[in-house]
Amino acid sequence: MLFKQQAWLRQKLLVLGSLAVGSLLYLVARVGSLDRLQPICPVEGRFSGARGQAEFPLRALQFKRGLLHEFRKGNASKEQVRLHDLVQQLPKAIIIGVRKGGTRALLEMLNLHPAVVKASQEIHFFDNDENYAKGIEWYRKKMPFSYPQQITIEKSPAYFITEEVPERIYKMNSSIKLLIIVREPTTRAISDYTQVLEGKERKNKTYYKFEKLAIDSNTCEVNTKYKAVRTSIYTKHLERWLKYFPIEQFHVVDGDRLITEPLPELQLVEKFLNLPPRISQYNLYFNATRGFYCLRFNIIFNKCLAGSKGRIHPEVDPSVITKLRKFFHPFNQKFYQITGRTLNWP
Ligand code: A3P
Repeated sequence: MLFKQQAWLRQKLLVLGSLAVGSLLYLVARVGSLDRLQPICPVEGRFSGARGQAEFPLRALQFKRGLLHEFRKGNASKEQVRLHDLVQQLPKAIIIGVRKGGTRALLEMLNLHPAVVKASQEIHFFDNDENYAKGIEWYRKKMPFSYPQQITIEKSPAYFITEEVPERIYKMNSSIKLLIIVREPTTRAISDYTQVLEGKERKNKTYYKFEKLAIDSNTCEVNTKYKAVRTSIYTKHLERWLKYFPIEQFHVVDGDRLITEPLPELQLVEKFLNLPPRISQYNLYFNATRGFYCLRFNIIFNKCLAGSKGRIHPEVDPSVITKLRKFFHPFNQKFYQITGRTLNWP
C-alpha cells in the first residue's frame, strides 16, 4: 500500500516538474514571438547618427531564429510576408573582404544586433559576370526578409580583389558602407593556403608546400604572382576602391583582434553603421574546446562557427615568414596611412 502511494507521489511530482519546465520554455518562446511581431525601430536615427534614440528591443534571437528564419527557408506564404510588412532590401553595408580575414565571424557576430539581418550565403553578385548580368532585382531577391527598419548585410570576400566590383557597387549605391576585415598579411596568406590545401587533400590530390608557392625559386624573392600573396597587399586593392568611394565610407576591422577580443571590434562597427550599441559581452563567450569565441543569442540558443573556420595552419619555415613580413611592411604602412588605422603588424 505504502509502496503504491510512493509510486503515485513520484509520478505526480514528475508530471508537476514537466509542467513547470514546459511552462518556462513556453514563456521564453512566447516573449520572443510577441516581440517579433512589431517593427523594431524608427528609420530615423538608425543611419542619422542619433545613436541611443532608436529603440531596439533585445530579442535578436527569437526574432531571427523564428519568423524570419522560416521565411528564409521559404516556409512562409505571401500573405504572411505582407501581413508582417517584411521586405527584401538591398544591403546598406557590405563586408567586401578580405578572404580569410574573419569575414564569416564578422557577419555572424553583427547579426547578433537586432537591427541587422544577414544574407547567409555569399551572393557573388558583383564579382561574377553571370550573376551580375541577371540584374539588381535578382540580387535583391537573394536578400533575406527583414523589417523595413532593419538593415541587410551581405559578405562576399572576393569583392575586395575583383577589378570590376567597386564600380558596380557604386552604381547600385554610391553611399553604401563598406567593411574590410584584415589580418596580419602573412598569417592571412597562410590561412588562404591552408584552405586551398584542405580542398586538395579532400580530393586526394597533392599540393605544393607554402614555401614553394610564396617564394620564387629563381630569384629567392617573394612570388607576387601567387594569389595568396597578392590578396594580402591590401593597399593595392584599396586604392582601386578609392577611385569610387571616399575613405569615410570604409571601416577597417582588425581580424586578429576579432579573434581574441571581439566585442570592442564589434562596437566600432556598430558606431560606423550608426547603430545603437546592442551587442554585449553576454552575446559572446569563449569556447575552450573550439579555441574561439562563440555566439550566444539568449539562454537557449548559441552557436560556434563551423569547423572550417579556425583551421590548424601548417608549419612554415621561419625565414620565409620573415621574408614575407619584410615584403608586406611598406604596403602595410601605406594601408595604415590611408585608412587611419594602425595595426602594428610586424
Ligand atoms: P583560420 O582558419 O586561418 O584560423 P573567413 O571567414 O574570412 O574565411 O575567415 C576565417 C578565419 O576567421 C579563420 O581563419 C579564423 O581564425 C577567423 N575567426 C575569427 N573569429 C572566429 C571565430 N569566432 N570562430 C572561428 N573562426 C574565427
